[in-house]
Amino acid sequence: MEGRLHDREGQTGQARRGGIVSRLLTLGVLSISALMVLAACGPDVDKPYSTTSPASTTADDIQGLYKLVFWLSLIVFVGVQFAVVYISMRYRRKRSDTRRPPQIHGNKRLEIIWTVIPAVVLLVLLVPTVSMIFDHDAQAQEPDIEIDAYGKQWWWEFHYGADVTQGGESLDVVTANEIVVPVGQNIVFNLQSNNVIHSFWVPRLSGKLDVMPGHVNKLSITPTETGEFYGECAEYCGAQHAWMRFKITVVTQEEFYNWVNNWRTSPATTAQQGAGDGVLQAPQTFQVCLACHTVNGMEGANALQGINAPQNMGPDLTMVACRESIAAGAIEMTEENLRNWLRDPGAVKPGNYMATQIGPGGLELTDEQLDELVNYIFSMQPEGGCTAADGWSGGGGAATPEASPMATPETGS
Ligand code: CUA
Repeated sequence: MEGRLHDREGQTGQARRGGIVSRLLTLGVLSISALMVLAACGPDVDKPYSTTSPASTTADDIQGLYKLVFWLSLIVFVGVQFAVVYISMRYRRKRSDTRRPPQIHGNKRLEIIWTVIPAVVLLVLLVPTVSMIFDHDAQAQEPDIEIDAYGKQWWWEFHYGADVTQGGESLDVVTANEIVVPVGQNIVFNLQSNNVIHSFWVPRLSGKLDVMPGHVNKLSITPTETGEFYGECAEYCGAQHAWMRFKITVVTQEEFYNWVNNWRTSPATTAQQGAGDGVLQAPQTFQVCLACHTVNGMEGANALQGINAPQNMGPDLTMVACRESIAAGAIEMTEENLRNWLRDPGAVKPGNYMATQIGPGGLELTDEQLDELVNYIFSMQPEGGCTAADGWSGGGGAATPEASPMATPETGS
């Protein structure tokens, strides 16, 4: 049996050697390309989805674990490579060798050694990992500010709850996709869904956590620097899973409460006939929108019910003009884009619920109605226009992006 095997190797040996050379060449080219790509990942590159430039205490902890895994792996890798090279040189077959070397198959001592070493390495990883899981869980039980986050298809609804730093009163702010939080506070997200499973992930601020129906997952984030941090849904949840983005803008305490006040004191508005003093008159068509949406300060509008609301209830539109994007990151918030979105939502984000209500096949809005709606929506800005704390960074409106301290991305460590 052994002899025949050797014969076969002899026949194909030359071809195999050719194969090995070409494989090594391919590997070399791949390695060089990978090194060049990695070299581009310098600290100066803007990297909103980087998992290696943490900006919160939890992300910092995770980074610590990552480093531990990296260095342990490096030691193991270098050790193994060194052993392979050393042993193959030290014990290679010499011309004078005529007999097979002693066989060590089933050597008890070796078996024990190479079982114990990996077990120790895994144990070294297990202890800090498990203790960190418990630490983060404990942090999630002691919020400074609580935010209920609902995964919808395909956007995020946020309800600000108790603010412990201000005596535990609820902040009562409801918004979608783009939120503002203060730096240095323990923000606890209560993640819920009443439809499919989503996953809440802001790479620079936290690890992924599932957003499930029938169970509340708590995620604690204590941001350590101000800036804009982008998030994604990280669990396939249907046709528009890729357009389920969100943004967390971390600001100072003062800017945060400015933002809360701006939300609370948004312009009074009505869709009824004859608006009074200082009350914005919504166009008649906006009645249609109110079937699913609401606006703070809107006379006669119903507050959104969070998890109890029907699955396809639309986002709260308070300060929507100050948001960076429409349709959870699908398009930038500009007057032209908003107009296109309202004319045919299905063309912008196929499969979304609003497309079953307005646009071709549903209620088609006339050019005049579109103009009225766009003007009205952009008029609903807080007094003094959108500010940096509103998370504004592009599009229409009265804001001045130059004034934004968040315009320059912080460079990661
Ligand atoms: Cu929600 Cu993917």
